[in-house]
Amino acid sequence: IYQQKQDDYELMAQISRFFQQQLKVSTDKDTAIKYLKGRGLSGEIVKRFGIGYISDAWDGMMNSFSRNGQANQQLIDLGMAVAGDKKRPYDRFRGRIMFPISDKRGRVIGFGGRVLGDAKPKYLNSPETRIYHKGQELYGLHEAKQANKKLKRLVVVEGYMDVVALAQHGVDYAVASLGTATTFEQLQTLFRTVPNVVCCYDGDRAGRDAAWRAMDNALPLIRDGFSLKFVFLPDGEDPDSLIRAQGQQAFEKILDNAMPLSKFLFEQLMQQVDMSSLEGRAALVESFQPFLAKLPDSILKDAMINEIANNFGTGSEQFLAKFTKHIKGGL
Ligand code: CTP
Ligand code: MN
Ligand code: MN
Ligand code: MN
Ligand code: MN
Repeated sequence: IYQQKQDDYELMAQISRFFQQQLKVSTDKDTAIKYLKGRGLSGEIVKRFGIGYISDAWDGMMNSFSRNGQANQQLIDLGMAVAGDKKRPYDRFRGRIMFPISDKRGRVIGFGGRVLGDAKPKYLNSPETRIYHKGQELYGLHEAKQANKKLKRLVVVEGYMDVVALAQHGVDYAVASLGTATTFEQLQTLFRTVPNVVCCYDGDRAGRDAAWRAMDNALPLIRDGFSLKFVFLPDGEDPDSLIRAQGQQAFEKILDNAMPLSKFLFEQLMQQVDMSSLEGRAALVESFQPFLAKLPDSILKDAMINEIANNFGTGSEQFLAKFTKHIKGGL
């Protein structure tokens, strides 16, 4: 099994080099280069992220990598070829800009491929394979570690282009969660790497929902000294569009002013009740319970309990004692 994995990593590295080479030798390489330039990317950044290209053909990659039945099976297992019902397996990725996804040791384990135009799907991603488990990986983490001797914070964004565009503009500490919601496993990896994490998802409904789910997933990990914050971009913007329009300084200022987890939680829960009635305020107090129950004991947790007791409860000693017991008991 160990030997097979070594072979898998080696093959994925070779395919990644092949895609990068295609950016230099394809007959239609100019279209791909023009696309990348149009998105504001320099040759240096394209190289740093190992970005490549594959022309629109059924066998662009297979022509170079299909040798025998065993090799074909490995390419299918790694998600690079599709068995289909044809005689020969064919290329999964066709006519796309190729973003290699590395694990934190820098080994290529999968790819994301973007079409150059408006065709659907806009992005095609590697399926789960024996070396690629998408809920556990973070796109750009290896590159962020390479670029920074000592990482102070990490920014979590939604997309490949967001990570690359941010790096292009000097924000070389962004990672993408490779799907909509940032998972508990990904947040665990983030907090093992840095104490400060800022989520900066797209300014749309999906982005706001993703922030809420990330907050919920992160609660068990928020100990004293660790912070998760949120940036809410204007509707229609994403980190790529924003940094291109406003530059590094403005973007980093937005990160500095990100909303702390506690404020996000309070604001969201308050929106759901009628704060002018006692009933509404009682419901609010009740609604904190499942969230506080997930937080490990910490100074922040005590502060949140006090805040709730003082602002929405009676503020009395009896209330505080009762509420604290309620949270701990999970009633
Ligand atoms: N995504 C995906 N498949 C799709 C659409 C999106 O896997 N069909 C994932 C990709 O990782 C993508 C991320 O969700 O990067 C965010 O989606 P979206 O905001 O739509 O794309 P952008 O990253 O903004 O892509 P671009 O700027 O290239 O249009
Ligand atoms: Mn898996
Ligand atoms: Mn989006
Ligand atoms: Mn986007
Ligand atoms: Mn975008």
